[in-house]
Parts: sequence; C-alpha cells; structure tokens
Amino acid sequence: MSPRAGTLFGTHDEIRRAVADLHDTMVAWRRHLHQHPELSFEEHETSRFVARVLAETEGLDVTPCAGTSLVARLRGTGSGHTIALRADMDALPVEEENDTPYRSRIPGVMHACGHDGHVAMLLGAARVLAARRKHLRGEIRFLFQHAEEKLPGGAEAMVAAGAMDGVDAVAGTHLWSDLDVGRIAVTYGPMMAAPDTFRIVVEGRGGHASRPHQTVDSLAVAAQIVTNLQHIVSREIDPMTSFVVSVCSFHAGRTHNVIGGEARLEGTVRSYDPAQRALAARRIEEIARGVAAAHRAACRIEYEHGYRPVVNPEGLTRLFDRTAQDLFGAEAVDHDQRNMGGEDFSAFQARAPGTFYYVGCRNRARGIVHPNHHPRFDIDEAALAQGAILHCAFAERLLDAESFDERA
Ligand code: NI
Repeated sequence: MSPRAGTLFGTHDEIRRAVADLHDTMVAWRRHLHQHPELSFEEHETSRFVARVLAETEGLDVTPCAGTSLVARLRGTGSGHTIALRADMDALPVEEENDTPYRSRIPGVMHACGHDGHVAMLLGAARVLAARRKHLRGEIRFLFQHAEEKLPGGAEAMVAAGAMDGVDAVAGTHLWSDLDVGRIAVTYGPMMAAPDTFRIVVEGRGGHASRPHQTVDSLAVAAQIVTNLQHIVSREIDPMTSFVVSVCSFHAGRTHNVIGGEARLEGTVRSYDPAQRALAARRIEEIARGVAAAHRAACRIEYEHGYRPVVNPEGLTRLFDRTAQDLFGAEAVDHDQRNMGGEDFSAFQARAPGTFYYVGCRNRARGIVHPNHHPRFDIDEAALAQGAILHCAFAERLLDAESFDERA
C-alpha cells in the first residue's frame, strides 16, 4: 500500500459523494442522448448538448475540435501533468427494440453501444473535477469524440487538430455488456484488435443457367475464394496468436435461372501483430486473384486499414488497476476481457501512454443482458456513477503521480 493511501481514501470519499449527488443528473443526460442518437460524423445536436452542459460548468475552457468533437480544459492551481479523459459520442444504424420511456426517437438510429453513457459519465466527471479544481495541479483535458464507429474515426482527426498536444497520459472507458454492473475490466497489453476491411469483386461472364460452359460463373468462383481465405488463419498464422478473417457479405446473382456476371464479397481482418496484418493483406489479394484466375475469372480487391490495436502499457495500467481496486475492492476487477473488436482510442495511445478499460453494465436480474450493438442493448445506469468515480479518481491519481510507471 502506498504511503498516500490514507489521503487517497479520503479523497475518494469526497469524489464518491460528489458523484452520488450528481447521479440523477447523469441519468437524465444519458436518457436525453439515448432518445436523440446521431450517427457517426453527424453528431451536431449531441455536440451542442455537450457544449451546453460544459458551459454551465464553471472553470472549463471549451473549444470545438475536428468537426463535432469538443475539448474541455480544466486547469488546476499549479503546474503539473496534463492528462486526458475520453468519451465517444456516436450512435449506430440500429432500430431500437427496447420499450423504455427513454427509447430512441430516431427511426433506425440507436445508442446501441453505450456511447450515450460514456458522454454522461465524462460530463459528470468534468463537473465533479471542476468543483475540485483548487485542489488540482496541472491540467485535465476532457475529449468528447465524434465518430468512433466508422472509419476513418474521429480520434485521429482530434489528434491531428492538436487535442493531444502536451498530454502526458490518457484514459478511456467503454460500458461493457459481458460484465455485470459493479465490475471493471483492466487489461495489460493487447486488449482490442486492429480492424481492417476488404472488398473483392469477382468478374466473370453471365449467361443462361442451363449452359454453364458458356459462362464464367462468378458466384461459384466467389464461393471458392471464401473457402480458400479460411486457409490464412488455419494454415498461415501461428496458432498461438489471435487472428480473424471473416467474409461477412456475399452478393451474387438475381434469380434462379441466370448465372450472374459479378459477385461481391466483403469482410474483415482482426489482428494484433503488424507483420501478420501485412501478411493477411497480401495473401487475401494473392488468393483471390489466384482462385479467380484458376477458374477464368478476374477480380478487383480493395483492402482498407482500420484503427491500430488497443494495447495498454504496463505502468499506467498498473496505476489504474490499483485505483480501481482501492475504490471497489480487488474482487470487482476482472483481468480477462481481451477481444478482437476495434476501437480508435488507439489513436490517442499513439500520442501518449494511454489505458482503456471496461465498466460492466449487465444486470441479469433486470433483463439487461443483450450485447453491445444489439437492438435490445441497454445499461444498468448504476454503471454511470462507477464510471464517473473512476474517471475522477484516476485523473487525480495521475496528476499526483511523479511518473506513470508501476512504482509511482
Ligand atoms: Ni462502442
């Protein structure tokens, strides 16, 4: 236990009380956002709403950044570290199937990934920390980010616009439906994968279904390509590593008695290792071209690199782990939630040490069990308080830290 543990617990009690006082307000913010979701790159009303709440919070210096993103700066009384906390703000093209008083009012658009909750937690943290600014040294920067769900993502644009300039450490969180409310997932090292996208168009020659010999059947060729792409993972990637190649979309033909001239495939590659990532990009092209050529077809391939993988550094993550355990007990912290999802929080991690963690939002007793991105996804709103407390306590711990490694 560090010598500061006593004061830390005292500080934590003050933070807990302040967040508890604000909890109903955070729930109201989250429900407002949930009712008015906006898609990636279209977060205009969301951004205005966040700006309004931040304007009502004394001590913050708020500036628009890279489209609909916002950066709020909170400066303490003395010089010190600059640390950043991030929330993403966009919703998904999903039709909500929940029947709650706060269900989405926008047809076909839903906060199905909990980003409404991320915004509410960070607004809550900004308000609590702003009220405590006379105790703080250094700067806390609140990053409200547009477009996490869609390439090229908002994080990279925020970085390019200077949001991370001078930042010494950054933290971010995601509400997570695989975890019960009350639990937190801390991951050391690789946590989320690099998500790339590929598109393959197979060009054959259409014709009558009864005379296949006069055609080049694009559908049959594309089916072979789908099968052959599975060899990348099963026969070319070290089985001790994590890697995914999935073909998720296959469009060919229009009716039962016409062989179509063109077939379109789309899929995703999920990786952690840059060399394996490069191998897959190369081999998808070689296999698709080779299979097409073997069957007299041609093909066009586009390969789009997505976000970098989310990889959490040891020292900063250890500090977060200790903060979470001090606050909620060792039994509340899970250390096994790596996955092959993607997240552009990695763009911030490329500019400063950064750690990403999950806050549980599942509640089986209340039927809140559907996964992120599901039309019936919802959160146990008690998670909002836990997330805000973690933001505040970790921010203060980082400002107090002499360095961001495990000995601090
Ligand atoms: Ni998300």
